[in-house]
Amino acid sequence: SNISIIGVPMDLGADRRGVDMGPSAIRYAGVVERLEKIGYTVHDEGDIVVRRPKQNTTAGTNLKYLDEIARVNRELCDAVSGEMKKGHFPLVIGGDHSIAIGTIAGVLQHRPKTGVIWYDAHGDMNTAETSPSGNIHGMSLAVSLGYGHESLTSIGGADANLDPEKTVLIGARALDPGEKEFIQKLGVKVFTMHEIDRMGMARVMEEALKIVTNGTDGVHLSLDLDGLDPHDCPGVGTPVIGGISYRESHLAMEILAEANVLTSAEFVEVNPILDQMNQTARVAVALMGSVFGEKLL
Ligand code: ARG
Ligand code: MN
Ligand code: MN
Ligand code: MN
Repeated sequence: SNISIIGVPMDLGADRRGVDMGPSAIRYAGVVERLEKIGYTVHDEGDIVVRRPKQNTTAGTNLKYLDEIARVNRELCDAVSGEMKKGHFPLVIGGDHSIAIGTIAGVLQHRPKTGVIWYDAHGDMNTAETSPSGNIHGMSLAVSLGYGHESLTSIGGADANLDPEKTVLIGARALDPGEKEFIQKLGVKVFTMHEIDRMGMARVMEEALKIVTNGTDGVHLSLDLDGLDPHDCPGVGTPVIGGISYRESHLAMEILAEANVLTSAEFVEVNPILDQMNQTARVAVALMGSVFGEKLL
């Protein structure tokens, strides 16, 4: 079967340079060869062009680089939708997590009832009102659920939104006060580090899979490398100690592969400038191997 890789060298959502080099670092780590070796036909669709505007926030908001982030995500939405139309599996590589807005909007064109696994130290559930930073990468899940600035929520159609009851967060350990309130209000299920420690990753994934497959027509994985511990993934812009281990993450990906439900995926927030010898990109590619069914024997 076919996988289409779409690179998005976006750093405006994190307002920090370096994460724009993520797609390059992930290609350098051998993503194409790794997936071909498993037996896929891999189409590298190249990168979407991200312009670098002057530092700006849109008048009357605290949203940094809103216009260019919205433009890129509209283009990404079309690219993801176009690949799915061909029957290809879209694999988006970032870039900061603001690109989930376009990825998920594109996915929803074909699978309107998609369930989502959001693997992340953070909730990315802020809106302009609750964001402490104005950085849109901390708002993307809220946007995909239908909450946020109109120029973002309208991408792919204003009614193309995720269902909070079919969305799960895994690995959360840094939530802003407004995010906590919003997550609880919407009823998004969160497996924090506490649940991972207590239940073990295998049970967490089994429970998560029940939620994201119940009444859905697809499952999207949005994996922020900062979900892993900074010891394993130092090349991220917003590291948080006490994260998911490399081994637990492989187990999570293997359980996801066994369930055979995944229909789209993205790997984001790799920042090679902050990394050690491209380790974080190499971990990303290793996890892609597992989630696409790589077997030792
Ligand atoms: N919650 C913080 C904010 O809104 C950090 C978000 C980090 N998000 C990420 N995708 N790494 O600014
Ligand atoms: Mn994060
Ligand atoms: Mn929407
Ligand atoms: Mn994130």
